[in-house]
Amino acid sequence: MECDRVVVLVVVVVLLCCQLEASVGLTFSSKLIHRFSDEAKSLSISRKGNASGDLWPKRYSFEYFQLLLGNDLKRQRMKLGSQKNQLLFPSQGSQALFFGNELDWLHYTWIDIGTPNVSFLVALDAGSDLLWVPCDCIQCAPLSASYYNISLDRDLSEYSPSLSSTSRHLSCDHQLCEWGSNCKNPKDPCPYIFNYDDFENTTSAGFLVEDELHLASVGDHTARKMLQASVVLGCGRKQGGSFFDGAAPDGVMGLGPGDISVPSLLAKAGLIQNCFSLCFDENDSGRILFGDIGHASQQSTPFLPIQGTYVAYFVGVESYCVGNSCLKRSGFKALVDSGSSFTYLPSEVYNELVSEFDKQVNAKRISFQEGLWDYCYNARLG
Ligand SMILES: *[C@@H]1O[C@H](CO)[C@@H](O)[C@H](O)[C@H]1NC(C)=O
Ligand SMILES: *[C@@H]1O[C@H](CO)[C@@H](O)[C@H](O)[C@H]1NC(C)=O
Ligand SMILES: *[C@@H]1O[C@H](CO)[C@@H](O)[C@H](O)[C@H]1NC(C)=O
Ligand SMILES: *[C@@H]1O[C@H](CO)[C@@H](O)[C@H](O)[C@H]1NC(C)=O
Ligand SMILES: *[C@@H]1O[C@H](CO)[C@@H](O)[C@H](O)[C@H]1NC(C)=O
Repeated sequence: MECDRVVVLVVVVVLLCCQLEASVGLTFSSKLIHRFSDEAKSLSISRKGNASGDLWPKRYSFEYFQLLLGNDLKRQRMKLGSQKNQLLFPSQGSQALFFGNELDWLHYTWIDIGTPNVSFLVALDAGSDLLWVPCDCIQCAPLSASYYNISLDRDLSEYSPSLSSTSRHLSCDHQLCEWGSNCKNPKDPCPYIFNYDDFENTTSAGFLVEDELHLASVGDHTARKMLQASVVLGCGRKQGGSFFDGAAPDGVMGLGPGDISVPSLLAKAGLIQNCFSLCFDENDSGRILFGDIGHASQQSTPFLPIQGTYVAYFVGVESYCVGNSCLKRSGFKALVDSGSSFTYLPSEVYNELVSEFDKQVNAKRISFQEGLWDYCYNARLG
């Protein structure tokens, strides 16, 4: 059925081309016939017989719009080449989950890795590039859901390269091995040590492997298609700092612009365009989609380089406003980071902002946890 329809559509397009009519003078006009109009239908019937008319979708029916949409998607793909505009999400769904304080105010998603696959509840971090999971543990955070007082239908997992038939070590001489200079042998497994913050020494260390990440795609029709993509991940043998205070006990998926991040690797493999979307609903849960180029009408702001390179998602902040009073500031760059809970400002901007707030707020300052919070007020909601 589907193939017959495609053939019919091609015939109609050819007909349209033949109906160009020269008109008076130097202007040319052409008659446009909608491919699903009665006129196109009768043209097709006159050429191919009554049977071809039966294939015509009823105007404004579900089928009619499905055919139009299917054709648009086909055309977009022809323009972009291969599969590049498909949307991908983790095989267990695109949901981003939020557990509040229990898991340190971060956003998480389930991912499946390896053969046979193992599931990990990874934190989504647009402020870093590396994907790592707890692995052949020397020092990992507890992996039972009940320890964190969260309700999950299963416990968190530990990865082991030796248990996955699709796992391969990334060698020290691989171009993605940033930490390879200290290796004795270029074929040794590439070590990594990643420091998330100096304040609490939040680190993950181990070595890098390549394995399959299980994904699903949103197809032309609504059915999901499953696929695997080879990604680089850290076998996180030893974690430290806030990884023991409930932050990302089951690993982190870095979504940054670096070559080693999952979005970059999927784009390099030609599976998606190099972009992703992370959306949150009113309850702080939401979804993640790889390859989401966004709506054509949406506004955008460019990412800014730091010393000539795009190391992370920096944007320019023009001004901050308190009520109707805006503090003019230029040349101030801010990092967009899904892995940070608070907004951090340069100290001079912070000082201006809080003193403007203090001026406008009709309340008396109180002292609270001195040194940590400068501006606190007793206030009643509502
Ligand atoms: C096409 O359908 C019309 C009306 O239903 C009928 O009169 C005609 O004979 C049919 N022609 C063919 C070739 O089947
Ligand atoms: C993961 O493995 C389970 C069985 O262990 C299987 O049912 C499931 O389909 C697998 N998921 C993927 C995405 O391959
Ligand atoms: C879980 O809840 C219990 C009881 O409310 C509490 O004692 C414990 O500290 C909590 N665990 C964590 C990791 O927060
Ligand atoms: C972080 O590590 C450094 C060097 O190993 C150490 O001097 C410092 O005390 C550590 N800080 C914390 C908060 O553990
Ligand atoms: C958010 O939570 C409230 C209360 O549990 C619920 O009624 C609402 O449907 C939730 N919103 C979404 C988008 O899930």
